[in-house]
Amino acid sequence: MTNNTKDYSKYFDFSNAKILSEDEESTRVRINGREIQIKSQPDYREGKRRGKESIAVHTDFSIPEDMENFGEGKRYHVQTYGCQMNEHDSETIKGLLEQMGYTGTEDRTQADIILLNTCAIRENAEDRVFGELGHLKVLKTERPGLMIGVCGCMSQEEGVVNRILQKHGFVDMIFGTHNVHRLPHLIREAVFGKEMVVEVWSKEGDIIENLPKKREGMRAWVNIMYGCDKFCTYCIVPYTRGKERSRRPEDVIAEVRELARQGFKEITLLGQNVNAYGKDFEDLDYRFGDLMEDMSKIDVPRVRFTTSHPRDFDDRLIQVLGGGGNLVEHIHLPVQSGSSAVLKKMSRKYTREHYLELAAKIRKVVPDAVLTTDIIVGFPGESDEQFEETLSLVREVGYDSAYTFIYSPREGTPAASMADDIPMEVKKRRLAALNALIKEQSRRGNEALTGRTVEVLVEGESKNNASVLAGRTRGNKLVHFEGGPELVGTFVQVKINDAKSWYVKGDLVETPVFAG
Ligand code: SAH
Ligand code: SF4
Ligand code: F3S
Repeated sequence: MTNNTKDYSKYFDFSNAKILSEDEESTRVRINGREIQIKSQPDYREGKRRGKESIAVHTDFSIPEDMENFGEGKRYHVQTYGCQMNEHDSETIKGLLEQMGYTGTEDRTQADIILLNTCAIRENAEDRVFGELGHLKVLKTERPGLMIGVCGCMSQEEGVVNRILQKHGFVDMIFGTHNVHRLPHLIREAVFGKEMVVEVWSKEGDIIENLPKKREGMRAWVNIMYGCDKFCTYCIVPYTRGKERSRRPEDVIAEVRELARQGFKEITLLGQNVNAYGKDFEDLDYRFGDLMEDMSKIDVPRVRFTTSHPRDFDDRLIQVLGGGGNLVEHIHLPVQSGSSAVLKKMSRKYTREHYLELAAKIRKVVPDAVLTTDIIVGFPGESDEQFEETLSLVREVGYDSAYTFIYSPREGTPAASMADDIPMEVKKRRLAALNALIKEQSRRGNEALTGRTVEVLVEGESKNNASVLAGRTRGNKLVHFEGGPELVGTFVQVKINDAKSWYVKGDLVETPVFAG
């Protein structure tokens, strides 16, 4: 499938570009001396469309025969930016490459193919990728056989593809979030055609169930849905990830059961908006609460989810989470702002009061709930008073931690046409004040744990000291304690005796509950 619209004016100006050939499948063009095959390109208008077409589910994916051993003796390096969704997509990309015979390397100078799986959420995320492309150009000059690909959310942006075509002609392929499974084909075309290959689908494709995934460690991500239909006015995700599509419950359940069988200790269900799960099923009345209930029956020690949206957080879900068991009591519930007026301009579709009520309801049914959030400061028109409302909401909800961001206008979103009128120094001051408050609350939440014995899933050695292990509680608190490497991947009981701002320290009190 291609969705070539043949409107190239957004991608290059014809002063330095020459169309070499055009047909149904692709257009060949020369820009600054570099030949480029454009199979399809991002188009925001198309990306924004929310059609009624139903999404087909495929289970017949396979690597083309002639590419099965293509990677033998070759190494790959995948660099990932952005959210867990992207991390998980990188696991698919690595799985595909390994099925083609490639092996992974952390050392970029050893790699035969380097892929940047990019994030478009804020301008600084994009700046990092363009900086990295500068480094890769040097590497490519030294090793002309090196293949370089750009994929992920930035590839879905019209302006980014344009910039790469114009300024980074050494890139070998650009593909998007909807056609990761096309990787073997794109590698073939880039290698044998010796041209840059651009294939970005603006519209989401079908769901492909049987893509390989290279998972590591004891925790596994599982996609339950793709895309986002919320269109918060500041956010690029609905354009880069397409419309909401839920995976069928039986497929999600089968995958989680299989991961449990393989010994994974923790599952995180992924979606931009997980509690919109199932809204798109026409034949089935089955929502996120139902899915979580089914998860609670699977023999896997911990199940998390991210990210939930306050608007879709229904009573049924709260009640299921209240059941505890393997459903842990950490809820990441992005609020973005404490001001109803700002929330309205953001099109978040809830008010401050509604959010506070929801948080109170959750606390009542899940008494140990650890609540965390995302907050944007400096949204267009945000007054000092409105920012104060965010601070007071943070205090009232009592978050244990938060990701905080300075508003960054994203081309093509509705907020980008609002005046970005808060001076940078004010934005920075607000961010610093917010971060100070959150740090104080995080320490207080950690202090509340001192003296308590908690269950910790041991993830590995701590960064600075190999005799100190690091792990997480059910509430996602980071715990450091002394112990041997044999405990990694097991559950232990730790008595907390010291609280820092971002982690707690404790002593091991028991031998492992589960073996390795
Ligand atoms: N789907 C999730 C979050 C996705 S993006 C949700 O709706 O909660 C992660 C966070 O990035 C958002 O919660 C928001 O706080 C932040 N973010 C998104 N767009 C942004 C922008 N244009 N500028 C600054 N922060 C942004
Ligand atoms: Fe972006 Fe809003 Fe969708 Fe989250 S819910 S991904 S913030 S549009
Ligand atoms: Fe970034 Fe795309 Fe995730 S924009 S935050 S990688 S969905």
